[in-house]
Amino acid sequence: MCGIAGYIGKQQAAPIILDGLAKLEYRGYDSAGVAVFDGEKIHMEKAMGRLRVLDEMTHHGASMPGFCGVGHTRWATHGCPSDTNAHPHMNEENTIAVVHNGIIENYGKLKQRLEKKGYHFASETDTEVLAHMLTEYYHGDPVDAIEKVMHRVEGSYALGIMFLDHPHHIYAARKDSPLIVGVSDDGKFIASDVPAILHYTRNVYYMENEEIACLSNEHTRFFNIDGESIEKQPVTIDWDIHAAEKGGYEHFMLKEIHEQPKAVRDTISPRISNNDIDLGELGLSEEEIRNLKHISIVACGSAYHTGVTGKYVLESLARIPTETDLASEFRYRNPIYTPDSLVIIVSQSGETADSLAALRDAKKHKSKVLAIVNVVGSSIAREADSVLYTWAGPEISVATTKAYSCQLAVFYMLAMKFARIRGTISPEQFAKLLDALKLLPDQIETLLSQKEKIQFFANHYLATEHIFFMGRGIDYAISLEGSLKLKEISYIHSEAYAAGELKHGTISLMEEGTLVVAIATQDILYPKTVSNIVEVKTRGAFVMALTTLKHKDMENCADYVLYVPETENPFMGSLAIIPLQLFSYYVSLGRGLDVDKPRNLAKSVTVE
Ligand code: AGP
Repeated sequence: MCGIAGYIGKQQAAPIILDGLAKLEYRGYDSAGVAVFDGEKIHMEKAMGRLRVLDEMTHHGASMPGFCGVGHTRWATHGCPSDTNAHPHMNEENTIAVVHNGIIENYGKLKQRLEKKGYHFASETDTEVLAHMLTEYYHGDPVDAIEKVMHRVEGSYALGIMFLDHPHHIYAARKDSPLIVGVSDDGKFIASDVPAILHYTRNVYYMENEEIACLSNEHTRFFNIDGESIEKQPVTIDWDIHAAEKGGYEHFMLKEIHEQPKAVRDTISPRISNNDIDLGELGLSEEEIRNLKHISIVACGSAYHTGVTGKYVLESLARIPTETDLASEFRYRNPIYTPDSLVIIVSQSGETADSLAALRDAKKHKSKVLAIVNVVGSSIAREADSVLYTWAGPEISVATTKAYSCQLAVFYMLAMKFARIRGTISPEQFAKLLDALKLLPDQIETLLSQKEKIQFFANHYLATEHIFFMGRGIDYAISLEGSLKLKEISYIHSEAYAAGELKHGTISLMEEGTLVVAIATQDILYPKTVSNIVEVKTRGAFVMALTTLKHKDMENCADYVLYVPETENPFMGSLAIIPLQLFSYYVSLGRGLDVDKPRNLAKSVTVE
C-alpha cells in the first residue's frame, strides 16, 4: 500500500522525509516522490522504481532545501507505475501539492466534471483529481478547501497537502486509510504508519476518519469535516521498530488476515454503483458475454483454488461451462481453444512463470485473456487483454490471505455480471446477491473476533502429523485452500478431499484420533457431508466442523464445531476460509516456525 511521510520543523525536511519513506518500504511500492517548500516555490522530485533512485537523484534530499515538505511511496492502483503517475501530484499552477494513500472511488465522475471546467490532467491517477478539486475550492483558507473536497469524494484516503500561500504549514486528512501526526521538539510529522517517525518521536496523534490536521512550527491543530476545531489526545508509542512495521501485529500474515475486511471492501465498493456491478475494465461487450461458450481459469496454488470456487459460481450463476486448470499443466497439455471462449489468469503477484506462460499460450492461439491480478503493472497485468485488479494492497507474507479473499470477490462479481447479462438469474436474485456481497467485509470482521477460540483449538494440534480437510462443492474448493495454508506454513502433512471421494480409497488412512476438518456450508450438500463425517468418525477420526448457525445439529456428530455467519451459498467460501487461515497461522506460530517466510517457498515463483 502507499506510504506517506511529511515534516515541518527546524531541520531540512527532504532527508527526514526520505528516511521516513525508507521505513515504509515494507508496504510495497513502485515509485516515490518528495515535495518541499524551498523558500520560493514547491520543489518536487519524483521517480519510478526503488526509493534509492529518488535518493540518488536528490543526494538523499540535500539538493532539496527547505524545512517543510511531504513525500510518498506509491503502490499503484489507478495508472501504471511511472514517473508521471508517482506522487506528489500538483495543480497546474504548482501552488498545491498532494500525496494520497487510498482509492478515490468516484474519481471518474469528478475528473470528467473538472475537465469540463477546463482542468488538464497530467497523470492517470485518481489522486490528481484531489489537486484540481483543492484548486477549485481554495479561496485562501486551506482547511475550508480540504473539507469541501472531503464532502465530495467517495472512497478511502490519507492525504498530505501543501499550499504555496501557506508555505510553513502541512495539512493532512484521512478517511479509512491510516494517518498519524507526530510531535517532537524538532518539528512535526505526518506518516502512514509509526515506523516512519519512530526514530524522531514516540509522541503521536492517531487521526480518526474525516479529521483534518494543520501543522506549523507554532501549532498542531485538528478539525472535523465541518471545519470545527477539535481536541485530540497524543499517545506514546511503546513498540520497537521491528514490531512497528507490522502495525503492531507479530507477523505480516496476521496483519494481512486482519486487513481482509478493508481489502475486500476496496475491491468491491468501487465496482458497485446504482445497485449494479460495473466491471468497466472487463473489456468484453454484452454481446461477447452473451455469446461466451466456455471459460478456462488458469492459475497456481491459492490462486488456482479461487479458480475452483470461480468455476462453481460461474457455472451455477451464469451457466457458462468452466474449466479450472493448474497453469503448469495447462501450458503443456496442448489445450483446445475454441471461439467465443475466455481464458482467465489469476495471480496475486502477476509474475508467476507458469501462469504467465499459460497466458502467452492462450494469446498465441488468439484466445481472449482476462487477468485477475493484485500487482498493478505486473507482467500478467500488462500482457492480458484486460485486467480486473484486486485492490488488496501489497501482500508481504508468503502465504496469501487478503489477495485470495479479493480474488474470490472478483469471481463473485464476474459471475453475477455475466448471469445478469445472460439472463440466467432474475433481477431479484441479483439484488439479493448484491446485498450479500456488500455485507461480506463486515462478516469477515466479525469472524476475526473468534481468533482466540481458534488459537486455543490450534494449540491442541501442534504435534499432529496428518490433517485432512474435506467438503463438497464450494466447500471442497475451500478445503483445498485450508489444506494448503496449513501445509505451507506449519509443515504438517495435509490433504484436501471432495468429501464424497474419501470412501474411494483415502478413508483407509483414517485411524483413531486422525484430525479431519469438515466444511459444511452448502445447504443442499449439508446432509451428504454429515454422512461423510459419520463415515470418518466411525473409523476413529476427530472432526472439527465448520458450518452456519442454522445447522446446530452438527454438534450431534462433529467433535468440535466452529460457526460462520450466514451469507448466500456461492459466497460462503469467503467466510469459511477465515477460521482456516487463523488455524494455520496459530499452528505455525505454536510450532515456532517462520510464519511469513516458510522454508523452500517464495512469494512469487518466477521460475518453472
Ligand atoms: C499461496 O499461499 C502460496 N504462496 C502460493 O500457492 C501462491 O498462491 C502461488 O504461488 C501463486 O502465486 P500468484 O498468485 O502470485 O500467481
